Amino acid sequence: MRHELKVKYQRYDNWDELSPEDQDLINMAYEVCKSAYAPYSKFHVGASLRMTNNEIISGSNQENIAYPSGLCAERVALFYAGANLPNEKVQTLCVVAKGDLLPIEKILSPCGACRQVMLETEVRQELKYRIILVSQNGVCIVFDSAQDLLPLAFGVTD
Ligand code: THU
Repeated sequence: MRHELKVKYQRYDNWDELSPEDQDLINMAYEVCKSAYAPYSKFHVGASLRMTNNEIISGSNQENIAYPSGLCAERVALFYAGANLPNEKVQTLCVVAKGDLLPIEKILSPCGACRQVMLETEVRQELKYRIILVSQNGVCIVFDSAQDLLPLAFGVTD
């Protein structure tokens, strides 16, 4: 029997159509892009998390000359939250990027390893969280759950 997987998300032509809270989160992600250490890719990524206590956590990609030793912005932010705010849950995660690696109309979409960590965060906190992905020309898409970005995930299949 053939099955079908469907993922729903909301698309906005420009992120200024989002709520002021979401716009704050996106602005924070752009702000933290400035601290990216990306001498190899020259691609600056910022991730911001709104926690359930409304605190905003952010992280940027940190590269290393031994390439696989570097870490993406999403995991820097999520692991920081796990280490420093263990009693809070993620409510919304946002990722943005600046650089020539992607055409400006292309939405920054997390890598597979980050999706795995994003999903385990959701499973662990027993609360779905929203994910906002943004392109450099302002288009954004919003998912309701980390599961939407990693269907049939290792260890978490329904
Ligand atoms: N990167 C992120 O930080 N997040 C993503 O979602 C995709 C890629 C980083 C890793 C590396 O430092 C640079 O962007 C180029 O791949």
